[in-house]
Amino acid sequence: MSSEKWMMRYERLAVWARQEWDRRQGETPYQLLWAAESCGNQLAQDRIKPRRRLKGKAYYTGVQQVDCDEVISISEYVMPGRTPVLGETVGAFAFSFDHPDGAFEVLYVSSYYRDDDPNIVSIALVPPAHLDAWVNFEALCNEVVRRPSRRQDVYIIGGTNAYFKPTVDWDEVILPADLKEDLHSDMEAFFKDGVLIYQELNLAPFRKLLLVGPPGTGKTMLCAAMAKLALRKKRVVVYVSGADDDGASFHKIHHALNVVANAGYPVLLIVEEIDVYLRKDDKARILNVLDGLESPNNPRGALLLATTNYPEVIDERIAKRPGRMDRILVIPPIQDDDLARQMLEHYMGPQWQDDHAAVVPQLVGQTGAFVREVALHARMLAAHQHLREVDLATLLQSIGSLTNQINTGDDLLPRRHIGFGSSGGNGFGLPQEADAPSYIETDSPED
Ligand SMILES: Nc1ncnc2c1ncn2[C@@H]1O[C@H](COP(=O)(O)OP(=O)(O)OP(=O)(O)O)[C@@H](O)[C@H]1O
Ligand SMILES: [Mg+2]
Repeated sequence: MSSEKWMMRYERLAVWARQEWDRRQGETPYQLLWAAESCGNQLAQDRIKPRRRLKGKAYYTGVQQVDCDEVISISEYVMPGRTPVLGETVGAFAFSFDHPDGAFEVLYVSSYYRDDDPNIVSIALVPPAHLDAWVNFEALCNEVVRRPSRRQDVYIIGGTNAYFKPTVDWDEVILPADLKEDLHSDMEAFFKDGVLIYQELNLAPFRKLLLVGPPGTGKTMLCAAMAKLALRKKRVVVYVSGADDDGASFHKIHHALNVVANAGYPVLLIVEEIDVYLRKDDKARILNVLDGLESPNNPRGALLLATTNYPEVIDERIAKRPGRMDRILVIPPIQDDDLARQMLEHYMGPQWQDDHAAVVPQLVGQTGAFVREVALHARMLAAHQHLREVDLATLLQSIGSLTNQINTGDDLLPRRHIGFGSSGGNGFGLPQEADAPSYIETDSPED
């Protein structure tokens, strides 16, 4: 009894499945396999019709739900757009197939690892003579589940799909064009040519980019836009979130690296706020990963996109050790009038008027998040006063109140040196992009 309590999730499913197989199939031999989670998905079950021919001589003939005291069949809907889409289903099922040599059945069971973990574990018991047909059927399930639903295929570790959505268009990110281009072409060059070069050097093809910048400059947005581009190229996106109850623990990184290594596709791995992992006891292991000792070896290539607000955390451990991060890109606040105007126009939307341009110089040195709030607040002020348009005075009022609020907040919060000021330029004490290790102020954090 107590040993059962300590069994892994899949082991419990396997114990149940073996007993069920004996009951249904008696002596028929089976092979126990990890299975594709999409076979349990209601979408696959709806879309693949009985009598569907599989490669070889097998036909799929139908599916039946099986009672299982280990799993309650349950479905999850996601909202990638306006209409809800069935995301995933777990449960126990018997799939039946026809074959000239005789009909056969596959027993399948899937479940969530834990209540708070959205990852699914699924296993199947398959007659060894029909492995081909089953693998073929799994591929079909994967295909129909992915194809038309426009499901977000981000693999999220430590959170739900709501944590990160790859729905940002590249054009929505307002940053210096050369910076965006640099990041984009780095990703493309790596997957196109870089992977082979790493392999020729006998290195695991694992490239590491770090986005550094103050809060609200668009790092998360940029990650989401990169993810969207990656998905379009059929790359797998893995996102590690520290936002759930488990926080920033190394086991998430470990889990992510396993997924990355076994993905079978090129992977974009996103780890936000990587500084948090570097502050903890596990930092030596993270550094091993960055150094290549524990790098995932995905033959199709893996690109790590990490973000941080705290340049001083990356100081000793990363910046001064070549190769830990291949590139460090500074994502700065708004640097010039041109970008400030683009940002304001974007967030004023249909309320934009040419005379709003008068505030543009005040927005230089501020962040995208600031401009978005200014625009939102101004639009709400105008709506509240039943004005149909946002006039310049309202816009100025909005800037004033937001600036005050931030200044008051600064007084309330204990000041903490984080190595960047609020002035213009990138305001960050860092060059736009740096491979050289010596630029970061040596205000090293705790060890
Ligand atoms: N460069 C930008 N272009 C367009 N919008 C931006 C930009 N930067 C910020 N914004 C707006 O501000 C919001 C917050 O930005 P985001 O979350 O990407 O900042 P961040 O750099 O990740 O901040 P943090 O370091 O606090 O995580 C965005 O959702 C977007 O609405
Ligand atoms: Mg962010």
